[in-house]
Amino acid sequence: MAFNTSPVLPTVPPPIHPSFTDAHDEDTVDKWVHRLPDMIRLTGRHPFNAEPDTKALVNQGFITPAAMHYVRNHGPVPQLSWESHRITVSGVGVPQPHTFSMDELLSLPQRTLPVTLVCAGNRRKEVNVHRKSKGFNWGAGAVSNSLWTGVPLHVLLEQCGLNARDLPPGSYWVNFDGPDGELPKGVYGTSIPLRKALDPAQDVLVAHKQNHEPLMPDHGFPVRMIIPGYIGGRMIKWLTRITISHEPSQSFYHYHDNRVLPSSVDQERADREDWWRKPEYIINDLNLNSAITHPSHNEEIPLLENGTYKIQGYAYCGGGRRVHRVEVSLDDGQSWELVEMSKEEYPTEHGRFWSWRLWHLDVDVLRLASGKSVACRAWDDSQNTQPRDLTWNVLGMMNNSWFRLKTSLHRNTQQQLVLHVHHPAPIGSLGWMEKGTGVTAMAPGKEQGGAQHVEEKSIPVREIRKDLPAISSTELARHKSRTDCWIAIKGLVYNVTPYLKEHPGGVGAIVMNGGKDATEDFEAIHSRTAWRMLDKYLVGVLSPSSPGTSSPPSLRTSGGAPASIPAAKVALQGKGKKLKCKLLEKEYAAPDVLRLKFALPHGNATLGETGDEAVHACLQGRCQGSRGTPG
Ligand code: HEM
Repeated sequence: MAFNTSPVLPTVPPPIHPSFTDAHDEDTVDKWVHRLPDMIRLTGRHPFNAEPDTKALVNQGFITPAAMHYVRNHGPVPQLSWESHRITVSGVGVPQPHTFSMDELLSLPQRTLPVTLVCAGNRRKEVNVHRKSKGFNWGAGAVSNSLWTGVPLHVLLEQCGLNARDLPPGSYWVNFDGPDGELPKGVYGTSIPLRKALDPAQDVLVAHKQNHEPLMPDHGFPVRMIIPGYIGGRMIKWLTRITISHEPSQSFYHYHDNRVLPSSVDQERADREDWWRKPEYIINDLNLNSAITHPSHNEEIPLLENGTYKIQGYAYCGGGRRVHRVEVSLDDGQSWELVEMSKEEYPTEHGRFWSWRLWHLDVDVLRLASGKSVACRAWDDSQNTQPRDLTWNVLGMMNNSWFRLKTSLHRNTQQQLVLHVHHPAPIGSLGWMEKGTGVTAMAPGKEQGGAQHVEEKSIPVREIRKDLPAISSTELARHKSRTDCWIAIKGLVYNVTPYLKEHPGGVGAIVMNGGKDATEDFEAIHSRTAWRMLDKYLVGVLSPSSPGTSSPPSLRTSGGAPASIPAAKVALQGKGKKLKCKLLEKEYAAPDVLRLKFALPHGNATLGETGDEAVHACLQGRCQGSRGTPG
């Protein structure tokens, strides 16, 4: 069967070459890497994990410029050279193992094709808002589409004498490894079945160009894997070794990353019962997904009569299947309308679709305002579509629930009536999911085995020992090396030196925060497990006089009112008394702990004797049953 393949390659937008380094990288090992300062950083300064603003991404069109392509780095970017880099090919059943130089790669047949890369954690922040997973927050920008050029993997393997016909029966895997010594838990490696690698229809590439230019360091210079239709986590960057074996990769990262475990399995259970090694939970093919990029979060759309708004977004799918339609609902899923799909995406000569599809829908602004939400969902050629609700899983992977915006009417500063747009969980801002308003989403844990989730909800408020020494910021600043590293988080000081070598984010990520307040960087990334690990390293309390620090919340609550507050009225005396308080502030104290600040009815008042009594917070008349000591 002949497919209507593209007669020409898609046009590539003018390349963006960031000409200097970003100030964020100044004191990191990546200080030599050129990056776009507009990229949204997701894991503090280092390692670099970043996504573009999704509106800007889609504005670039079908092909994403390399500098705007999302980046997922587990550690420092290796400094490799074209001249000296080598890729070795060896292993079971390889008749002529060989080490290829980069120039040798160029002498082999080449192929160029557009391929969409997606991090399996795309849209993870929505998952984390429900309940923190082990992974850090991604918005909806962990997706990009570029032209990739390289040697088809089957060609490279055939160069080494490997031929599917001559292999004895058995199971065979192709393992890909990055450079040795790259990460604390060893080499970042993974594997795919050899039959996939040898199938020309799968278009697996050993790629050395993105959008006709050499790879950028963040994208794997000088060479990386491209496995169309697969999740980004299998496309090893800085490729150094290809090995054939009877077993899948033994890399730590192959087992402990890129899996979707059932929602009833939390991290403790996964570790205890070694769910990481159950082969059925591995993710390879991308799932069907879509998101709205226009309007953006906090966009204000003027309510003009006869005005129209162009809703835009992207959609993608795995396994070479095609997204054949996207639908938008303006009434929270009661009815759906078809959007206009982009026309740039063509099948390969084997009938595979490896690229995303951009789409748009022009909508009357007054109609847009009459509903309170905008949702999108995609459909693939098997007539599968996206679910309404997300399914929590411990790694927070593959969230593909309907992408839902909420809208509200208000007057802007010029007294103009505008439609205010809220995304579900944007990076760097509170979305409607975090504000807890409106559109319902199924609380994960109401599925099978839900009861197990209840205790997972929050990070326990730690009891702080009163005998802990006060540590000044000057003292803290003395401990900032690989052999003596202290950090402060939320006003508490930790000596994390013994943990450095085990840290999944690398030694450098912690040491560059050594001697400093690391609250922001720590909070941005870590799971409940990491928060609990901290206790083991607690050595003191950052003295309140230290400039630039706030006193720890747990301290404020453990020892009663500090001596500096003058004696005042006691607002709450005796058991069972109730006080009506006004909500002053909402703030995230930890990834999944919301701190609410209330005003006592009288300005100059204390809550009362703290002793051992518990205080119950009743929100809008409903007692939450949570206990805490008065602060
Ligand atoms: C403030 C300094 C720190 C920074 C900047 C930092 C950075 C990171 C990063 C970037 C990752 C993600 C690695 C990846 O998946 O690529 C990570 C993961 C992790 N880090 Fe840290 N880290 C810091 C301190 C700590 C400390 C003090 C602990 C424990 C005592 C810790 C425990 C963990 C754990 C357990 C993970 C795995 C993911 C999770 O369970 O949250 N980190 N860290």
